[in-house]
Amino acid sequence: MAEDQHYYPGLEGVVAGETRLSYIDGEAGELVIGGYPLAELAGNATYEETLFLLYEDRLPDADELEAFRDDLAGRRTVDGAVLDVLREAAETGCDAMEALRMGAAAADIGGDGDDRETAKRMVAVLPTVVAAYHRFAEGEAFVEPRADLRHTANYLYMLTGTEPDEAAVRGVETYLNTVIDHGFNASTFTARTIVSTESDIVSAVTGAVGALKGPLHGGAPGPVLDMLLDIDASGDVERWLRERLESGERLMGFGHRVYRARDPRAAVLSTAAREFFDASDEGQAFFETVRSVEDTAVSLLEEYEPDRALETNVEFYTATLLYGAGVPRGLFSASFAVARVGGWTAHALEQLEDNRLIRPRSRYVGERRREWTPADAR
Ligand code: COA
Repeated sequence: MAEDQHYYPGLEGVVAGETRLSYIDGEAGELVIGGYPLAELAGNATYEETLFLLYEDRLPDADELEAFRDDLAGRRTVDGAVLDVLREAAETGCDAMEALRMGAAAADIGGDGDDRETAKRMVAVLPTVVAAYHRFAEGEAFVEPRADLRHTANYLYMLTGTEPDEAAVRGVETYLNTVIDHGFNASTFTARTIVSTESDIVSAVTGAVGALKGPLHGGAPGPVLDMLLDIDASGDVERWLRERLESGERLMGFGHRVYRARDPRAAVLSTAAREFFDASDEGQAFFETVRSVEDTAVSLLEEYEPDRALETNVEFYTATLLYGAGVPRGLFSASFAVARVGGWTAHALEQLEDNRLIRPRSRYVGERRREWTPADAR
């Protein structure tokens, strides 16, 4: 066989395309978004500015930013049919990601099919879908989006029905900026693959939500919080972690396909998270436990997996920050989607700029010369 049959399980190390959206140096633990080092962007930009940067490859001036904010704010409402689906999903016990998958698929009913317009619509509407599901799951009434609030503030407002304080907005906004894009991660690659067939942006976002749902990708922060609360209650960090590793379990919030150093997003989120816990003695004690879990886990992972550099990943401090900001645990993964939809749509548009169908090959490992026998002779 003349063709190259070498393959890389999980496509590890394979360069599958070009992007100007984000740059990752996994060895150095460096992340650049739209040309800006993460630490510079995450705490300073509003989500709308970061999204504009991804779409336009430059920051907006003040007038452009205002117009862009208004444009997004005008696309937040969902119609009654979508609310019915979300109410039904909540009442039948679907989790937030299942509800989001259904809501995302239905969110652009009546849309005009223009890719750029649909992209903005999906970014604007996902927070409404998540918040509506949450309100119904809590037995509460849907809170209509408010066009006068910024993207992040409006998301938090729709979850609770009260205007969030600026500290919560800033913390969650830092989170949304931090995880908005990250190279060809599984959900983003899914979105690019879907639009590469000249399908549509809604399908790309819906497929990406499905890919994000799994615990190896976006499903980790909920279990991370469970771990932190359980360890905090147990009072013995090392024993708790060692027992899990002894029984062959993976520690959620550690390890990454690309990073061999501490995930740079962990540093940004850790600083932002700390703000929420510094205010009280109880909070400070919890944050100390979090730090101790991180240090102990990293050294135990070195002991148990000496051949693989396993460091803290983004989900560890995502859980800590979202918990501190008061975002319910059941919405952690869905909030990741609320952020990452910016990256998904930017990647989908980038893919379409110079599209080539994504269609890799497989290496066949099955039989080749089986002999057919009729059913009654098998
Ligand atoms: N805890 C314990 N061991 C881990 C580990 C973790 N969090 N992550 C990886 N390992 C171990 C694996 O068991 C494997 O050991 P083995 O070779 O003895 O089987 C080795 O390290 C290599 O892991 P591998 O599965 O090849 O790494 P990957 O690149 O496929 O996985 C993740 C990356 C993120 C899926 C993986 O690190 C993981 O499952 N982490 C926990 C989930 C998580 O936090 N996800 C969020 C990612 S941002």
